[in-house]
Amino acid sequence: MQDKILVLDFGGQYSKLIARRVREQSVYSEIKQYNRINTEEIVKAGYKGIIFTGGPNSVYDERSPHFDSKVLDCGIPVLGICYGAQLMAYMAGGKVSGAENGSEYGKTRLLITPCPLFEGVPAESVCWMSHTDFISGIPEGFSVTAHTDKCPTAAMACEKKKLYAVQFHPEVMHTEYGAKILGNFLFGICGCAGDWKMDDFVKTTVERYREELKGKKVLMALSGGVDSSVAAALLGKAVGNNLVCVFVDHGMMRKDEGDFVERTFRDSFGLSLIRVNAESRFLAKLSGVTDPETKRKIIGGEFIRVFEEEAGKLGKTEILAQGTIYPDVIESGKGDSATIKSHHNVGGLPSVMDFERIVEPLSELFKDEVRKVGKVLGLPDRLVYRQPFPGPGLAVRVIGEITKEKLEMLREADAIFCEETEKLTPKDKMPDQYFAVMTDLMSVGVKGDARTYGRVVALRAVSTDDFMTAEWTKLSPEVLEKASGRITNEISGITRVVYDITSKPPATVEWE
Ligand code: XMP
Repeated sequence: MQDKILVLDFGGQYSKLIARRVREQSVYSEIKQYNRINTEEIVKAGYKGIIFTGGPNSVYDERSPHFDSKVLDCGIPVLGICYGAQLMAYMAGGKVSGAENGSEYGKTRLLITPCPLFEGVPAESVCWMSHTDFISGIPEGFSVTAHTDKCPTAAMACEKKKLYAVQFHPEVMHTEYGAKILGNFLFGICGCAGDWKMDDFVKTTVERYREELKGKKVLMALSGGVDSSVAAALLGKAVGNNLVCVFVDHGMMRKDEGDFVERTFRDSFGLSLIRVNAESRFLAKLSGVTDPETKRKIIGGEFIRVFEEEAGKLGKTEILAQGTIYPDVIESGKGDSATIKSHHNVGGLPSVMDFERIVEPLSELFKDEVRKVGKVLGLPDRLVYRQPFPGPGLAVRVIGEITKEKLEMLREADAIFCEETEKLTPKDKMPDQYFAVMTDLMSVGVKGDARTYGRVVALRAVSTDDFMTAEWTKLSPEVLEKASGRITNEISGITRVVYDITSKPPATVEWE
């Protein structure tokens, strides 16, 4: 049987990150909410180890999450983190108190005593703390294995029962030896082999949904973005033609994008794909509209209407699938959530539609893990490594009224800019997002001997980790020169090209 670790979730903000850190060490992990599993089920499932996560509460608060203390005696090693550490102390008969001289928050000096959890960790290192309560009295059979200046029990252990607790967060990057400590738990203490791969995630997820969704019709809105594409390919493997993907082409896609999505899913993957060419419908709705927020609302609303119409034609559909990934999940621990989440890509899926269940196969994964799943499934690099593209598409990149003519010019300019950037920029200097914007400005130019009067296109490229802040990318002058020359020569109607040199903040990435 595949080694697996249970991440028992007590509502902490880092639960998914803990599960990810375990996967990074090639050990499979599953997250279960503390009130959705009991000790008997844990033993039966054959977990090699359990990690109690952090949580926002105090163990003495009546409403705080607790767990049956028998779990500490069932022979499975346990690692308690933060609230999970305090809970372990409380469950085993120790004492937890509120910190008298203030809580600890941030990077903290950690002093350890050797024990199996700290194998290879120096006597003094830096850990990340975030707590108010602390373990003031350790339970019988335990010993203190680490402390900080303010916290007398930064770690404790009962080696005989393989119970370990750390007040700090080993899953956070700022804890210098966090990965080492987690690795010690997984390999030294739980005896995991560390042979799990993303291929295994694909295999088990496909098997799981093949069983659970047998004979059911599954509907999915495919945007062509990384997340919905990977989710569609994964579910397609599980349920074959029972998966129906509806791809609404709103006409605000980049050059050749709609055809590419269709080709990939229908021809290469053999999935049932309904492509709805709704460009004229969207353009009619957007006619004369210049306000950015109104444009977004119109597109979101119209998307729902088109999607509903198509779904209605299919007859009874039991399951709705979504490409939600972990950073989109606002509330933790919900898993396959019972309410329809507003889809950030398309501006909200129909709330009136009647589905038995929502399926979100990627909801525990981070973006880079989703890309790995895409690679395992054989999706083309152009899809897997696609730069983010807003749901309303080029609509937020055409300033002022959106017309077919402006869209067409923008598509060409954008394709040229992307091509030159990709051709001339070294891999490690590539921006994270790069695109063209059709401004609403007209400007005088000269072509041959004649005066021209045409549009101004702006080029934008940003480097960022999380898109919350971003720096404008210092693209090489050759890229800009080549792109500008080609855009003004090859696209009639564009007389001028400018480069956006604003970071975020104060600007946003998109112009609208
Ligand atoms: P901003 O412009 O807010 O963009 O700095 C940050 C990131 O979000 C993307 N973005 C959107 N994505 N719907 C989306 O799905 C939207 O309405 C939207 N607006 C911005 C943007 O492309 C960038 O990656």
